Amino acid sequence: MYYDHLGCRACGFGTQETASGIKSATPSDHLVPVFDLGLQPLANDFCAPGQEHAGYAPLKVLYCPRCSLAQLSVTVRPDILYSRYSYVTSTSETMMKHFAALADLLIEQKAGPRLLEIGSNDGRMLQYFQSLNMDVCGIDPAANLAEIANKAGVRTVCGLLNEESANEAADRPFDVVIARHVFCHVDDWRDFLRHVWLTTHNESLVCLEVPYCKDMLDRGEFDTIYHEHTSYLTLKAITALLANSPFRLHRVVRFPIHGGAILLMMRSKSSRVSPDPGLAAMLAEEHITLAEWQAFDAKARQAMLAMKETVRAAREQGKRVCGFGASAKSTVWVNACGFTRKDVQFITDTTRYKQWKLSPGTDIPIVDEGALLRELPDIALCFAWNFAAEILEKNALARSKGVKFYVPIPDPKLL
Ligand code: TMP
Ligand code: ZN
Repeated sequence: MYYDHLGCRACGFGTQETASGIKSATPSDHLVPVFDLGLQPLANDFCAPGQEHAGYAPLKVLYCPRCSLAQLSVTVRPDILYSRYSYVTSTSETMMKHFAALADLLIEQKAGPRLLEIGSNDGRMLQYFQSLNMDVCGIDPAANLAEIANKAGVRTVCGLLNEESANEAADRPFDVVIARHVFCHVDDWRDFLRHVWLTTHNESLVCLEVPYCKDMLDRGEFDTIYHEHTSYLTLKAITALLANSPFRLHRVVRFPIHGGAILLMMRSKSSRVSPDPGLAAMLAEEHITLAEWQAFDAKARQAMLAMKETVRAAREQGKRVCGFGASAKSTVWVNACGFTRKDVQFITDTTRYKQWKLSPGTDIPIVDEGALLRELPDIALCFAWNFAAEILEKNALARSKGVKFYVPIPDPKLL
């Protein structure tokens, strides 16, 4: 189901050979364990009652003292992780605003009109770029989602990014290649960059959006850590990786989406466009050391205790608790806290595919969002806290009827 991954994906530390193929001077060095949740179910393994689930794998983070990359100690086989993929890009207002911000950046960069998205899901973002007259194409491994995209008129090649899919998509090179929250899932980064290279020309702009490790650490967002996220990126780590590649960093933009993300904009090392002058300062200011990870571990444990205590106290008073948003994050919370349906009676989610299934590793059912008004629980644990503002506004009626939202991150609040 999974295999060990003990060498640094970015700089090669902890392996016999560095990423560039040169023998490491210190082959006995190893990555440092910094966070451990033990055996956990796969965060998106939503199964119907009685259906066989994928199983459990260690959820342990290792830190690279050389380049500050953090990565999981194991890689779960992608065919197991993504064969029944239930994640659908959000249509929320927050997400639409984010797409608009990305489009503004591309305009500012004077990027050309041909755009490839890797991991294009159901084509939601590409439809938006299409409406701005861009010539778009997607690549996505989930057959069900690629079909939805193609039916909606978004040309989508079904498959993981490899030589075959790259060549099929790129009949001509693309001006822009975007991968949102994909790179942090990839096991072999050199292979990925090699295939991106096949789809680009000398002046292409390559944009990788990933959760920013610094934001995750500062805010104690431990629920970003699940098996799909094999790496937690820092600027220092991506710089180490790119040193031995044909790309260089061009500009980095921070976004609030998904609890704090960075858009890593890269260009070919032989591009005529000069890198952003602010880049060096951003790199110099980034300090992610073992001390930050220790503080994070303490904050995460505190957050788990706080949620468990809220649920325990509510149950003691005969109050009813539910979850709101069966995000991958919800699986991390529910299993880290050891909740059952006695604690959390149900979790609401708008994704039809998740409804009528169970929260992975538990007996908690996923139900439609209407359940909130029908059942009027006393407390709704907001597992989609990255959309909290929008969710609180959207659920004003339930709140007026007494439902309180527990927003666990960045600091627990009952609203
Ligand atoms: P994400 O944070 O990984 O995008 O997951 C958010 C999950 O929450 C996703 O399954 C959709 C769900 N959701 C709702 O059910 N209602 C909402 O109002 C929002 C914003 C998300
Ligand atoms: Zn490293």
